[in-house]
Amino acid sequence: MGFIGFLLYGGLAVIFLALHLVFGDLSYSIPEEMKRGSVIGNIAKDLGLESGRLSARNARVDTEDNSVKYCNVNLNTGELMVQERIDREGLCAKRASCVLKQELVLENPLEVHRINIRVQDINDNSPQFKEEQLKFDIQESAVKGARFLLDEAHDGDIGENGVQGYSLQQNDHFKLNVNMKTGGRKYCELVLEKELDREDKKELMLLLTAFDGGSPRRSGTVVIHVTVLDANDNVPVFSQAVYKASLPENSPVDTLVITVSATDADEGVNGDVNYGFNDVSDENQVFALNSKTGEVTVAGSIDYEKESSYELQISAKDGLGLASYATLIIDITDINDNAPVIYLKSLTNPIPENVSPGTEVGIINVQDRDSDSNRQVRCSIQQNVPFKLVPSIKNYYSLVSTGQLDRELVSDYNITISATDEGSPPLSSSKTVQLSVADINDNPPVFEEQSYSAYVSENNKAGSTLCSVSARDPDWRQNGTVIYSLLGGEVNGAPVSSYVSVNGDTGVIHAVRSFDYEQFRSFKVQVMARDNGSPPLSSNVTVSVFISDVNDNSPQILYPGSEGKSFMTELVPKAAHGGSLVSKVIAVDADSGQNAWLSYQIVKSTDPGLFTIGVHSGEIRTQRDISESDSMKQNLVVSVKDNGQPSLSATCSMYLLISDNLAEVPELKDISYDEKNSKLTSYLIIALVCVSTFFLTFIIIILGVRFCRRRKPRLLFDGAVAIPSAYLPPNYADVDGTGTLRSAYNYDAYLTTGSRTSDFKFVSSYNDNTLPADQTLRKSPSDFAEVFGDCDDSPEVGICSS
Ligand SMILES: *[C@@H]1O[C@H](CO)[C@@H](O)[C@H](O)[C@H]1NC(C)=O
Ligand SMILES: *[C@@H]1O[C@H](CO)[C@@H](O)[C@H](O)[C@H]1NC(C)=O
Ligand SMILES: *[C@@H]1O[C@H](CO)[C@@H](O)[C@H](O)[C@H]1NC(C)=O
Repeated sequence: MGFIGFLLYGGLAVIFLALHLVFGDLSYSIPEEMKRGSVIGNIAKDLGLESGRLSARNARVDTEDNSVKYCNVNLNTGELMVQERIDREGLCAKRASCVLKQELVLENPLEVHRINIRVQDINDNSPQFKEEQLKFDIQESAVKGARFLLDEAHDGDIGENGVQGYSLQQNDHFKLNVNMKTGGRKYCELVLEKELDREDKKELMLLLTAFDGGSPRRSGTVVIHVTVLDANDNVPVFSQAVYKASLPENSPVDTLVITVSATDADEGVNGDVNYGFNDVSDENQVFALNSKTGEVTVAGSIDYEKESSYELQISAKDGLGLASYATLIIDITDINDNAPVIYLKSLTNPIPENVSPGTEVGIINVQDRDSDSNRQVRCSIQQNVPFKLVPSIKNYYSLVSTGQLDRELVSDYNITISATDEGSPPLSSSKTVQLSVADINDNPPVFEEQSYSAYVSENNKAGSTLCSVSARDPDWRQNGTVIYSLLGGEVNGAPVSSYVSVNGDTGVIHAVRSFDYEQFRSFKVQVMARDNGSPPLSSNVTVSVFISDVNDNSPQILYPGSEGKSFMTELVPKAAHGGSLVSKVIAVDADSGQNAWLSYQIVKSTDPGLFTIGVHSGEIRTQRDISESDSMKQNLVVSVKDNGQPSLSATCSMYLLISDNLAEVPELKDISYDEKNSKLTSYLIIALVCVSTFFLTFIIIILGVRFCRRRKPRLLFDGAVAIPSAYLPPNYADVDGTGTLRSAYNYDAYLTTGSRTSDFKFVSSYNDNTLPADQTLRKSPSDFAEVFGDCDDSPEVGICSS
C-alpha cells in the first residue's frame, strides 16, 4: 500500500515521508556530492527496529535492476551512509527534482522498504561555453546596429545555480544585448555600436562572461574573436600628388625616369595596386608605366625641341577598381643636338658692279632649335670677299658689301657663311651663297695700239685690205661688243668714206678705191671703236695710210714732143764749138724717187759722133766743132728712161738744123722725111718752127741761167721768168735737183699731131680741177706733215695722158 501511496504522491516527497515511515518507506533528503561514509539517516530508528536485529535479519540495500548502490547500511548502528558519489547533475541532469531510489531488504521475514533519497542541488558547476572561442568574421563595412548572436553558456546546476546572466568586456565597438527566450533561458547578441575599420584593427578579442546565481556565484568566460573582414573601402594613395622628374632629351628607350608608388590600405585584391596612364594620348608612346612596379621608363624618342615638358596623369587602381590619380611632370632638359641652320632670306643676285660699298646685298636668318646657350649662334663670313655680315634684329644678319666691285676682275663670289652655336660641344653649319656681279658698261673699248699705220702700194685694187684695228672691251656681252666705224672727215676734200671703209665687226680696213701716190702720199683716218652698251662708250684711234710709189708713170717728155709727134727743130749755129749746149730734152716723171730718176740717152742719130746728151741733165751738146761737111739736118732720137723696176721709158725725136740763118729753112720741107704733108701743114709747121725756135732760144738762155744756179732751182720760178705756160707746167717744181720735172702738174700744149690733117689738137687735163697758176706745189720733206695734216688743201691734180 505504501508503495502505491508513493506512486500516487510521488511529487510530494516530504509529505509522504511520514506516510512512508508509517508504511515502511524511508525518505531522506541530502545535498549532492556528500562524502562517502556520510550518514544520510538512521534506518533502524526510522523503522523502529533494534539496531542489533539488523544484522540478524541480514539487512542490505538493494537497487532495482541492480543499478549502482549509492548507499549502504551500517548494520551495527543502523545508519544509512553514502557509499558512492551522488552527483545530482549526473543522476538527474536538468530535472528539477532528483530522487534516488534504493531498497532496503530485510530477511526473516522478508521485508522490503523503499528508501527515497532526495538529492538536492548545490552550486558545484560553473557556467560553461561549449567552445573555447567564439569566432566571428565581420565585414568592416557592417553597419551600426548589426547584431551577432552569441552561443549560450551552459551550467549543470539548475535554478538559481544555473546561468543567470552575461557580461562583455568593455570595448569600443560592441555592446551586449541580453534577451530572454521563451522558457526563461537567456541568450545574448553582440550589437555593433561603432563601425569597424579593418585598416585600424583587423581583429578584436572580447571576453564574454556568463555567471550563475549560486552562492558563491560561479562564472565562465569565453573569448569572442572578431576578425574584421576587409571591404574595399580604401583607394590607393599616391605618395605624392605631383611627381616631378627631369630627363635629358635623347635618353634611350628604357631609361628609368621615376618610380611612382601608391599604397592601398586594403588587402588582397582590394589592395592590389595597378598603375596606368590616365589619358590616352601620344605621350603614352613616349613613356611606359609598369603597372605593377610604377616605374616610368622611356619608350619613345625624347626631343626637347618637340616637347620640352610632359604632364601625365597617372592612376593607381586596386583590384576592384577604386582609383586615385596623380600628376607626373617630366621636364626635358636640352642637349645641344641641333646645329644652327642658315636661311637665305633674300639676295640681290646678280648685283651690279657699281654698287657703292655698304650696300645691302642679302638678308640671312640663322636659327637653332636648341635653347638657352645652345641656341646662341655666332655667324661669320670668310675673309677674302668684299662682303661682311652686319647683325641686325634678332638672329637676322645683313650681307653688306665692303668695297668696290669690279666684274671684270671677279665676276662670281662664293660667300661662305658659317654659324656656330655656344653649346658644348658646339655645333656649326655653313652655307655658300653664290653671288654674281652684273655688268655695267664701265669700260670703253681700248685699241691695242695707240695708232695704226697702213702701208699700201698705189694702184691697189679697190677693196683690198689695208690693215686691221682691234680694240678690246672687257665688259660683258653687248657692253663689251666692239663695233668699228669711220669717223667723218675729208681727205682732199672728199669724204673719207670714199677712200676707206672699216668692217664694223672685224676692224679690217679696206681701200674703197685705188690710190694714186702721185695724188697724195698719205692720209689719216679716225676709226672709232664703240661698244654696244647703253650709253655706249667709245675711243678713237688714228690710222695713217701711207701710199708707196709704184713705177706707173712713164717719163713725160715736155720738150721736144714724144717721138713721132713732134717736129720741133733746133737751130744750131754753124760756128758752134765742141761742147756747146745745143738743146735740152726736158722730161718729167710723175713718180718719185728711183721711179722718177730719169736718164737720157741718144738711141739714134744722123751723125753719131756729133752730139752727146747728158745722162742726167738731158742737155744735148756738140761733141766737136761743127764742120762744113756736117749735114745740115741732124736727127736725134732720145730715149728717156726712169730708174723704176721695171723701168719705163719714152723717146722723142729732135731735129737739129745746122744753120745760122732761118733763110735756109725752106729745106725744112725735106726734114719731114716721114711726112706726106699737105701744103697747109707744111706752112703751119714752118710757122710753128719759126715761133718755136724763137722761144726755144729763150728757153735755152733761161736754162743756161738755171744750170748756172743749180743750187737755187726755185729761182727759175720765183723769178717769174716768162716761159710760156704752154711749155712749162705751172706748178713745176724741181725736187731732186736733177733737172727733171716731177709730180703733179697741168699743162696745156699746142702740139702738132703730126697727122695728115694738120689739125691742132687741144690736149688738156682729164681732170677739170686744174690748179691755179699761182699755186705752186712746194714739197720738201718737212712739208709732208703739213700736207697730211691738211689733206683738204692738197691739190687734186690731173696729169696729162701721153
Ligand atoms: C663657286 O662654286 C661653284 C659651285 O661649287 C663653282 O662652280 C665655282 O667655280 C665657284 N666659284 C668661285 C669663284 O669659286
Ligand atoms: C650693260 O651695262 C648696263 C649699264 O651700263 C646694264 O644695265 C646692262 O645690264 C649691261 N648688259 C649686260 C648684258 O650685262
Ligand atoms: C672720238 O671722236 C668723236 C668725233 O670727233 C668724238 O665725238 C668723240 O668724243 C671722240 N671720242 C674720244 C674717246 O675721244
